[in-house]
Amino acid sequence: MADSRKLKLALVGCGGIAQAHWKGIEGHSPRIQVTAVVDTDAGRAAAMAAQTGAMPFTSLAEALAQGDFDAVDILLPHAQHEEAAVLAFGAGKHVVLEKPMAHTLASAARIQAAAQQAARKAGTVFMVAEQAQYWPDARAVQELIEAGAIGEIITARAFFGGPTAPLGGGPRPWRYDLAIAGGGITMDGGAHWIRPLRMWLGEIDEVVAVTGRPLADMDGESLSRSILRFRSGVVAILDALTAGAVMGPGEEFRVTGTEGEILLEKGRGGRLLLFDRSNPGGKVILDNKDEGRAAAFGYELNDFAGAVLDGTSLEASPEYSLGELRTAFAIYRSAESRQWEKVWE
Ligand SMILES: NC(=O)c1ccc[n+]([C@@H]2O[C@H](COP(=O)([O-])OP(=O)(O)OC[C@H]3O[C@@H](n4cnc5c(N)ncnc54)[C@H](O)[C@@H]3O)[C@@H](O)[C@H]2O)c1
Repeated sequence: MADSRKLKLALVGCGGIAQAHWKGIEGHSPRIQVTAVVDTDAGRAAAMAAQTGAMPFTSLAEALAQGDFDAVDILLPHAQHEEAAVLAFGAGKHVVLEKPMAHTLASAARIQAAAQQAARKAGTVFMVAEQAQYWPDARAVQELIEAGAIGEIITARAFFGGPTAPLGGGPRPWRYDLAIAGGGITMDGGAHWIRPLRMWLGEIDEVVAVTGRPLADMDGESLSRSILRFRSGVVAILDALTAGAVMGPGEEFRVTGTEGEILLEKGRGGRLLLFDRSNPGGKVILDNKDEGRAAAFGYELNDFAGAVLDGTSLEASPEYSLGELRTAFAIYRSAESRQWEKVWE
């Protein structure tokens, strides 16, 4: 018999990423029912309510008092993650929280403490949403590496680049404000490039980096160039850049092994290619990786729903998901100290 239990979810924050979560839910998460939407901007809440069929609210407190849901999906600017998460845990709700967990490590620690207390008291689930964990292309690379398709890994490089706000003006985005964002491009979009490297190469031990601010309007770094040394001893390169300009094509990831290379093309519809002795010109493993990346928002929310409804383990624990934020902060420390900086100490 089909399992008809559903997870009633409130979307808290109805901005850009809420749209991606909603599309993921609509297309791929049949066990999730969005029953409440919250935004301090009443117009945005009303528009999201019309789109989803959920009840609109203009504060989480109001939604917790009057709404009908078991879990909240927090989709807010970074400095607001803690207040919303603590409020939701206090009400005994399960919480999924967009990356990064918080704008500082101290705030993240307080969120984790509230999560642990709520888990003991009410059996709540806590997850940090990092959709790269569920990208079909990142999974395919992981499988190729595990199958020995490129032999022993020698090195890897990752390039994240693109606009974080509409080109050519508009109001100053909150992510340009260091007090709200907590950092720049590395902990924001760059996080989605750090996760696949961790999936493929293991845990990062230390980093050395240079940062810059080519985008003058952005308080945090809009450029970082880092060398990451993994616990395995393998060294990789991570670039993160938002230049406020149109950028050309190229590659997002290149993983080089003793037997070949894996390449992920940058840009809409980019492909995953394997180069080895049998395929010196490259074999297409996945065409249009971006279709799967959009669906990944649904897959990550399915993981959350399964943990709540079935008690299954999350693909990535909240502790593990701090790794991208810790890496970004180690990069910032290294840019200041001009030394190697440890990620986990
Ligand atoms: N996973 C990804 O690919 C990805 C992409 C973009 C953003 N994000 C993350 O998603 C989060 C939100 O980013 P965004 O780009 O959607 O921001 P956004 O500015 O587009 O949306 C945030 C929304 O929250 C509302 N809001 C602000 N304070 C509120 C409060 N106290 N209560 C209720 N609503 C409030 C705003 O009115 C706005 O509508 C951030 O953590 C960001 O890093 C992730």
